[in-house]
Amino acid sequence: MTFDKVYQYNFPTTIRFGPGAVKELPAYLQQNNLKAPLIVSDPTIAQLPFFKKILVDLQNHFIEVEVFHDIRKNPVKSDVYKGTDVWDNTERDCLIGIGGGAALDVARAIVLRVNHREDLFKYDDLVGGDVFVVNDVPHFITIPTTAGTGSEVGRSAIISDDETHQKKILFSPKLIAKIVFADPELTMDLPSFITAATGMDALTHNMEAFLAKNPHPICDGIALEGISLIKDSLETATKHPDLESRSKMLIASMMGAIAFQKGLGVVHSLAHPLSSLLDTHHGLANAVNIPYGMKFNIAGFEDKFRRIARTLELKEETGEAVVNYLFELNSKINIPHRLRDIQVQKEHLDTLADLAFADFAHPNNPKPVSRNDFRLLYAEAL
Ligand SMILES: NC(=O)c1ccc[n+]([C@@H]2O[C@H](COP(=O)([O-])OP(=O)(O)OC[C@H]3O[C@@H](n4cnc5c(N)ncnc54)[C@H](O)[C@@H]3O)[C@@H](O)[C@H]2O)c1
Ligand SMILES: [Fe+2]
Repeated sequence: MTFDKVYQYNFPTTIRFGPGAVKELPAYLQQNNLKAPLIVSDPTIAQLPFFKKILVDLQNHFIEVEVFHDIRKNPVKSDVYKGTDVWDNTERDCLIGIGGGAALDVARAIVLRVNHREDLFKYDDLVGGDVFVVNDVPHFITIPTTAGTGSEVGRSAIISDDETHQKKILFSPKLIAKIVFADPELTMDLPSFITAATGMDALTHNMEAFLAKNPHPICDGIALEGISLIKDSLETATKHPDLESRSKMLIASMMGAIAFQKGLGVVHSLAHPLSSLLDTHHGLANAVNIPYGMKFNIAGFEDKFRRIARTLELKEETGEAVVNYLFELNSKINIPHRLRDIQVQKEHLDTLADLAFADFAHPNNPKPVSRNDFRLLYAEAL
């Protein structure tokens, strides 16, 4: 690790973490003189008992709630515009995102759009659009209901173009939530497939962040502890969920998102095109690709893999043992080993390789990844 210039490390989010944390929401709003939140969620969550309970609790405290949940599985720009219309047409004083990464990303994008009305993708970070995020944003609160993306502690929103399905990143430190209410009880009834897929997303964040090339020992420490927590809890959370495994997964997913301010890598670049092209769930796309992406990264980074293997308490402290562990973990939690099992076909591989090479995540991979490398990795995983 060499420190050849000045780096910036940010850890500003206030997190209220633990069973029952969400019950603090009404008091928090009252203390901050907030009376009319726009709640942004997704159509499934809006029907769940815990969501209805949150609404009733707010109403009992004379807080007047408006809900917007009309969003796509992989959210698109028009979802954000519709949500902003609700903000415009009802007098709101703050915004609360309740959900997984999809709902929280839409919530964050609406937070941006409230006072930034150029085309949404003018603010795309990949074309330097973050410099246009200059105005104030509404008071923003996040409540995660999956343990995966860690979007609740993030400062970016991933939103796709309605037509091309290309993923854009809206980014600004202004988009960070003022407070996160992270309550593992809200994740207790997550179906096992979603637990497994989102949990593998969290594991991918921690592993890719640990391996990412920028020097960041603070994030490295967080990432290793995140990996350890997931090792202890993902299988139990998937098969026999209890509060302890759900709590460990929820904190580990936030640790992954905190750690990946350091950067991500080849696995996320392999995964993103599957969501844009085939609407694959983000976590599932990472889960299937992670063993192959990690295998690609071993040569030249044996020391880092030794530390991951030690954290996973593997008998052999090698990269190959880490790759075997990932295949075995996927088997235990019912994630397929092959892309062909998640609707990928040979005809897709060239387009996928083009999209992966254009993706934003791999420039931080510990070693360079060429378009041909992506093509070979997809072919190996098919
Ligand atoms: N902002 C970021 O930093 C970041 C990072 C990674 C991924 N993402 C984005 O996050 C999205 C994926 O998020 P996700 O993996 O959390 O999935 P998700 O938000 O799509 O949720 C998955 C499914 O689980 C359901 N669900 C959520 N909570 C539930 C609960 N408590 N009980 C039962 N069902 C529940 C949802 O309705 C949905 O059908 C993608 O759009 C991806 O691009 C964002
Ligand atoms: Fe991810």
